[in-house]
Amino acid sequence: MGEKQIAVLVSGGGTNLQALIDAQARGGLGGGVLSAVISSRADAYALERARLAGIPGYVVSRKDYPSNQAMTVALVKKLKELSIDLVVLAGFMHILTGEMVAAYPNAILNVHPALIPSFCGKGAYGLHVHEQALAYGVKVTGATVHFVNEEADGGPIVLQKAVDILPGDTPETLQRRVMEQAEWQLLPRAVSLFCQDRLRVEGRTVHIF
Ligand code: GAR
Repeated sequence: MGEKQIAVLVSGGGTNLQALIDAQARGGLGGGVLSAVISSRADAYALERARLAGIPGYVVSRKDYPSNQAMTVALVKKLKELSIDLVVLAGFMHILTGEMVAAYPNAILNVHPALIPSFCGKGAYGLHVHEQALAYGVKVTGATVHFVNEEADGGPIVLQKAVDILPGDTPETLQRRVMEQAEWQLLPRAVSLFCQDRLRVEGRTVHIF
């Protein structure tokens, strides 16, 4: 198959991007290569992380397009120009439309900061997810890496990890623990499995070989 070219789509701080950069430096991406970082915001710190790691950075700004669909079409064009094999959504804060899924079937991974199907879907992104978990009073939350399909946070699940909620947690302390104990481990592992051709999707189930 040859090595997989990976694009990481970001909107903010990029700590999950950093986990991928660090994994690549250790040879931990299963032979995949981080070949582009595309940000929906020109001022995202994730772009600085890309620059420091020597990865080409691009901006496809949501505000330059009339709709999510128009932005999605522009993103697909860019990804195809760059010969990307795997698209990773790492803190990408916009819902992509069907054009992306059609262009990259079972080749888009997203990291979500909860145990899907809890605290997911429209409005559940970033800190809001942890606010929702605390408001509900759950004792355990976590993170999920899944393939992206047409439904927001609805695609087949690749990896999940549980994280305890502790007395006195705020959305910020919980977000940090979920990142440290789950997201930063799961995302590089899922990318590595994909790049080694070790994931097979059958209906809603992802088999890991
Ligand atoms: C992460 O917690 C990620 O799981 C979440 O936003 C944060 C981005 O942080 N993504 C979503 O909520 C997507 N629905 P980062 O920019 O430091 O990686």
